[in-house]
Amino acid sequence: MRKESRIFVAGHRGLAGSAIVRSLKREGHSQLLLRTRAEVDLTDAKAVDRFFDQERPEYVFLAAARVGGILANSKFPADFIRDNLAIELNVIDAAHRFGAQKLLFLGSSCIYPKHAPQPIQESSLLTGPLEPTNEWYAIAKISGIKLVQAYRRQHQFRGISLMPTNLYGPGDNFDLQTSHVLPALIRKFHEAKMSASSQVTIWGTGAPRREFLHVDDLAEASIHLMRNYDEDEIINVGTGTDLTIAELAALIAGVVEYKGSLVFDATKPDGTPRKLLDVSRINASGWKAKIELRDGLRQTYDWYLAHTPAAVA
Ligand SMILES: NC(=O)c1ccc[n+]([C@@H]2O[C@H](COP(=O)([O-])OP(=O)(O)OC[C@H]3O[C@@H](n4cnc5c(N)ncnc54)[C@H](OP(=O)(O)O)[C@@H]3O)[C@@H](O)[C@H]2O)c1
Repeated sequence: MRKESRIFVAGHRGLAGSAIVRSLKREGHSQLLLRTRAEVDLTDAKAVDRFFDQERPEYVFLAAARVGGILANSKFPADFIRDNLAIELNVIDAAHRFGAQKLLFLGSSCIYPKHAPQPIQESSLLTGPLEPTNEWYAIAKISGIKLVQAYRRQHQFRGISLMPTNLYGPGDNFDLQTSHVLPALIRKFHEAKMSASSQVTIWGTGAPRREFLHVDDLAEASIHLMRNYDEDEIINVGTGTDLTIAELAALIAGVVEYKGSLVFDATKPDGTPRKLLDVSRINASGWKAKIELRDGLRQTYDWYLAHTPAAVA
């Protein structure tokens, strides 16, 4: 990948896509091809073909997807599997047919079985039942992995698939109806501090363990692998460390300086008991996460305060 290579970042306004754009610009890449959903709806095969035919991207970062937390997945299963299957098929097929040199597909750690041995190795894929609360999304992501592998096998198309752990950082979604646990906790603790509430209620028992990767680390890993990784096997991207939701909540309460009490609502689903990725393969390829969780949380809270007017009112 040269500085003047034509690079398409699909989903460039999203959490992961915007971080990849920031890193590519920081590295001096000048030919970034960026289109909003209104300009090119990636579920529309004709629109995707027109774009690839006109722009002929050489490298593709596929960071576009319909993404959401447990609530959104359970309310809109059809939309999650339909849109993600369509986006993957349209972009991967067009990238091949219009001569892109390489494509990087962003999957997700939810592709692994609910009770996979921890930390989760790439070889655990398709070895057991999935977490039911987001199986529609997971099946679409697994189909994306198999699409990339099939196009490599039949057409020698150089597609690679990354399995990132839970991401967080600037540009995250803080909508309590559709967000993931980390941004939801930042908003809940902040609003409780501003309204002087004596307690914050957190979904679940607080016992599940989760791993969180700052999105700027994910972007660095993506560029590192686009340059240096060219294999059929999927590859995990994470920090290799995890903590309980209760520990995360206490860390965020500290960053937000919320002094009230934390109440756990065990009537709400916990999801998978633990989801820690084995990152020894990507570490062996020369990449390791750099951003400590406490520093990343601090930076994300500052971004939230700077980008959410209501937050400081
Ligand atoms: N967030 C996580 O914790 C996490 C963890 C592991 C893996 N991942 C993977 O990382 C990738 C990106 O996730 P994210 O968290 O960055 O999601 P996000 O913030 O929701 O960004 C998704 C992007 O995709 C775009 N998009 C969705 N449908 C589209 C369509 N039909 N046409 C054109 N653009 C469309 C969205 O456009 P708009 O801006 O118009 O909505 C948005 O910019 C996904 O493949 C996801 O599976 C995410």
